[in-house]
Formats: sequence, C-alpha cells, structure tokens
Amino acid sequence: MTVPTSPVSQPSYSFQCVVDSPGFQVVGGKGVYIDVEKDGQVHSGVLDGVTGAAVGALGWGNEEVQEIMANAAKEAVYSFAPIMGNKPSEELAKFYIDNSPKGAFSAALWVCSGSESNENALRIIRQYFLERNLPNKTKLISRELSYHGYTLGAQSISWNPKVLPFEPYLMNREKTNIKINSAYPYRLQKSGETEEAYSERLLKDLEDKILANDPDTIASVTVETLPGSTLGTCPPPKGYLPGIRKLCNKYDLIFHLDEVMCGTGRSNPNGKLNCWENYLADNEAPDIQTVGKTLGSGYVSIAGVLVGPKIVEAFTKGSNSIFGGNTYSSHAFNCSVALAIQKKILKEGLTENIFKMGNLMGKRLQDALLSYSNIVGDVRGIGGFWSLEFVKDRATKDVFDVATNVAPRFKQICFDNKLSVMALSGTEEGTTGDRALLAPSFIIDEAYVNELVEKIVKSVDQLTKELHAEGKF
Ligand SMILES: Cc1ncc(COP(=O)(O)O)c(C=O)c1O
Repeated sequence: MTVPTSPVSQPSYSFQCVVDSPGFQVVGGKGVYIDVEKDGQVHSGVLDGVTGAAVGALGWGNEEVQEIMANAAKEAVYSFAPIMGNKPSEELAKFYIDNSPKGAFSAALWVCSGSESNENALRIIRQYFLERNLPNKTKLISRELSYHGYTLGAQSISWNPKVLPFEPYLMNREKTNIKINSAYPYRLQKSGETEEAYSERLLKDLEDKILANDPDTIASVTVETLPGSTLGTCPPPKGYLPGIRKLCNKYDLIFHLDEVMCGTGRSNPNGKLNCWENYLADNEAPDIQTVGKTLGSGYVSIAGVLVGPKIVEAFTKGSNSIFGGNTYSSHAFNCSVALAIQKKILKEGLTENIFKMGNLMGKRLQDALLSYSNIVGDVRGIGGFWSLEFVKDRATKDVFDVATNVAPRFKQICFDNKLSVMALSGTEEGTTGDRALLAPSFIIDEAYVNELVEKIVKSVDQLTKELHAEGKF
C-alpha cells in the first residue's frame, strides 16, 4: 500500500492572505521601524505607518514591555472566568473605568479580539433586555459601510463588500439587523449643507427607521466612533453622536460605540483613553463600548467590552450573572501585561504625544498633498488615526475603477519607498474610493512625521505619474 506523503517542502503552510505564498513576512522590528522579508530578501528599516492594523502603541521590541511580560509569565495563573476570576482582570477593568470620564463605565469583560468583543457586546445587549423582562427588544441597528469584525455576529452588524458572500449565514437585514446611513461627510454631505444639517439628516434617518420598525422591538444602535477600515477615519459631523445618544435615551435603546480601532489612547484629546471624548460630553457616554488593538499594543492578544452603570444595575437587580463565557476571557497574563502597558502609556504621556504628533502629521499631509494636482482627494482623521482617499478628479470626487488596483499599487510603491501603510480598495459601485490608512505608534516624534510625509508624497507622486501615463488620471 502506498502511504500518501506531504511534499517535503511547500512555499507556504499558512492558510492566511495569499494561500500559496508566504507573501510579506515581518522578521524583526525596533521602535517605529520593521524588517520585512519578501521573496527571500530582507528589507530592513521599513517605516511603520500603520502598526499592523492600528495595533502598536509602544513601537516594537520595547525592552520594558519584554521585562513586564517575563514577570507576568512567572506570576500569572490561568483561571476559567465563568467559575473563577483573577486579580489582573479586576485591576485592568478598574484602570479603564478610572481613566474614563466619571460615571461612564462600571465594569469590563476582557476577551482576545475585537470581533469577540463585539460578539460579547451583542450577548450583553440581549441579556440586558431579558433581565428587564423586555424579551421583544431584539433588533440591532447599525450602519451601512461599517466594520465590526470577522465573526458572524460582528459581520452581521457590519456592512461592506467583503461581508456579502457570507450573507446566507448572517442576521436578516429586515427582521433583526436594521441598517442606517453611514456618516461619510466627504461623499455624502450635500454641497451647501452644513455639518449640523447633515447630522440632522442622518439623525432623521435613524429616527425614521426606529419608528418604522417599532421601538419596543429595538435593542441597540452600534456605530464606530471614528470609522476605520471601511470608510477611512471620517470624524463624525457635529451633533451626530450626541443626537444618537438622545434618540437612544428617548426610545430606551443601548448606545454601543465600537472603539476597537480608534480607541484606547489612539485619538483621545485628554491624555486618556476614549475617542468619543472628542465628540460627546461626559454625561453622554455610550452604554457599551468595545475596545481592542492598542490595549495590548500587539504584545498580547486582548480586547474588551466596557459596560455602563445602567447595564450593570439591570444585571445586579436581575439574575446577577452572565450566561457562559470564553475559555480565554479575563486571561490573567494578557490582562496583567495590558495593564502594565496602559500604565506606562499614561505615565509617559504617550496618548498626549500621539494626539499632538498625529494631528501634526495630518496637517502636514493636508498641506503637502492638497496643494497641487495628484490622486489624493481628501486627507482626514484625528489624533493618531488618518486616511488618504484617492480620486480621479478632486472636483467631481470620481473614484478609480476597482480593476485599476490603486490601493494595492499604492501599498507596493510605499513599501518600495520603505514605508508600510494599510491600503484599502474602493467598492465596485463607487460608494467609497481607494484609501490608505495611517495609524503610527504613540512614540513618534517630529522626525518621524517628516520622514513619513516625505515618503507619502513621493509615493503619491509616483502613482499619479503612472496613472497619468496609463490615461487613468
Ligand atoms: C472597528 C472595528 N471593530 C472590530 C474589529 C475586529 O477586531 P479583531 O480584528 O481584533 O477581531 C476591527 C478590526 O479592524 C475594527 O476596526
């Protein structure tokens, strides 16, 4: 009998990204630079413009973090959260609550990814209404063109072209998941319409959908405070988030903010944690907030759900327990490392630094790129989270055909210029254009900003020239 054997060697064993090739592999990193291997060649000293996926807050190879991790490994003992807690998860929750506006949050649950945090938020929303004996409040409102994760519940409340193939497995868009318009000023705010009027139009759409779908059957409204990968860091128009807060109060809905990508210090104006502090007063805090990414800064796999006092009270007055839990929820090692990382960020004023340096980066990019003819139509963002949107024509905002591959080509040109960015393709029907996302680490300084701006301008010019030669720009 012949026993089938696997080939001695194959190009890639990893079922991720390109299946038959290892593609780009990070092989090292220090501070704001990474070393990347591609086709057997190591490219060292690539400037990290996006810290993976807006993950790294402290840069790479941080020796203090390595020591923190070594100590945590010696002390942490695993416990299964549904039957036994641990001190690091309690301390991390207290830290997040203490460093958020007073009264905003009362408890937190720690999980391992942003998708899981959103899945758990949905479970908490469901149980909250069961605790209050309102079982008919089941419908979830969220936005067109949004991203909340790759698991099925998180995909259901998201919407973007990558979700479409999974539609047979997702929540029904009429019965369970109601979609409202995205807040996308660059394309959807009408010419001559003020920011406030645009917000009112969006809020009217929300209230109309609430009324059309019976408010007594609606549970929550979920939005990303500063949308990341699907729309590209468009700050919410004035009055929009406070307006959602008011409508949630009026119709007894949970207000859920997803700050997985924009939160935990990336874009906070007060040297603290939450992005919404740019747009909402302390007493307008969300009822639930999901976080992740910079919480563990890429050193540990951790994300979380922050829960406000209203929800905690419903649980304590009700069953006082949570149904089920994940094996690695409240993981002591992850919580302990994340807590030490967050304390270090606070002590060193790094949230303040990224807010200031990130805004400088954004301003310099706007000044440099929007002052002459090239493929950049818009440069937008706040703090440490910015995007460029590419257009064929700045006046009409016409997008490039998806087949022109503007985003992947921009990423490759940036890489050839020793800069890593996240590049995202536009949609077939042109509801968004190609974009590039920037989310540097919190430790950047002016020299970093200068290097990044220089590399971006060089890459934009190169691609503009290529597209012009092809007759596409
Ligand atoms: C806003 C938002 N929510 C949720 C997620 C999912 O997080 P994760 O990839 O850690 O599952 C992401 C990931 O990019 C995100 O940007």
